[in-house]
Amino acid sequence: MDIVLSGIRSTGKLHLGNYYGALRNFIRMQEENRCYFFIADLHSLTTHPDPKMLHENVKNVLVDYLAAGIDPEKSVIYVQSDVKETIELYLYLNMHAYLGELSKTASFKEKARKQPDNVNAGLLTYPALMAADILVHRADKVPVGKDQEQHLEMTRRFARRFNNFYGVDYFKEPVAYNFGEELVKIPGLDGSGKMGKSEGNAIYLSDTPKEIEKKVKRALTDSGPTVPNSEKPDYIENLFTILRVVSTPEVVEHYENLWNRCEIRYGDLKKQLAEDIITVTAPIRERVIELSSDDTYLRKVAQEGAEKARVSAAATLKDVREIVGFKRF
Ligand code: TYM
Repeated sequence: MDIVLSGIRSTGKLHLGNYYGALRNFIRMQEENRCYFFIADLHSLTTHPDPKMLHENVKNVLVDYLAAGIDPEKSVIYVQSDVKETIELYLYLNMHAYLGELSKTASFKEKARKQPDNVNAGLLTYPALMAADILVHRADKVPVGKDQEQHLEMTRRFARRFNNFYGVDYFKEPVAYNFGEELVKIPGLDGSGKMGKSEGNAIYLSDTPKEIEKKVKRALTDSGPTVPNSEKPDYIENLFTILRVVSTPEVVEHYENLWNRCEIRYGDLKKQLAEDIITVTAPIRERVIELSSDDTYLRKVAQEGAEKARVSAAATLKDVREIVGFKRF
């Protein structure tokens, strides 16, 4: 039985990228593995969220997790800040994380570019906190999208470094995981490489059919191919990438053929794409509406999840303190 851990930052609602990158396939894993799904509210602090919105955003992710099919009877679902052991482990890992490597991380460089007025230390040590999330449960597999691959590599490095420094074989080296397949990257509909909350190009699991149709309709296209079997420009390839995850292989093949014969009508493609996205998201959206008003149930899930997560994290920290050399008087 593997230990599987998946995390999502609480900076808004879940979008198709989160769903296909870190959630959909892994809902199946609940049966045979020890699964932890958590809401990374501490990570969200790097961008200084409005305190009035913090809890609301955590709630949104909790509701989306449950609506997408995570079963709290089978998996542990918890809020990161409820497990203080994570913060302690983060501190220990920080002592062995170096400025050179942290400042070279792609996500740090990108954030530093995007928010030059807020290049804080939390942003720099973000990968150490993420490693703490993973190592605190000694996870084997971490379902993530392609954008998190480098963070997983750093987690393995931090685990190895801890083991080497203290002369122990304590932490396992977790792998980024997608059922043995390539990690996925769901693109935006605006021609950009990645769908994301901060990119402002996301289709959310809780979007209404109307909103989805509107967003898909606005997707960037052109006047169509003029040479048979030509390569697709990125913004058209992006539409096909999304089609491949939401539609059947027959539908994808149909539109590939139309493309190759220069007979594609983007209006039809978009209609199909919107329809298939709605088919995937509609049942989730219905559950989101039900769950959002059930605060008693949400409280129960979050409290029980926190208790279970703390048991696992406390066992790790007991060992780690001993390894580091702390002793009680
Ligand atoms: P976050 O909140 O940006 O995204 C959550 C998960 O969704 C995946 N994802 C995508 N996958 C494919 N295509 C996309 N367009 C797309 N957008 C997002 C991400 O790869 C991720 O798996 N640092 C993490 C949260 C985190 C975490 C962890 C994850 C904190 N601690 C420990 C795993 C383990 C983050 O910001 O993800």
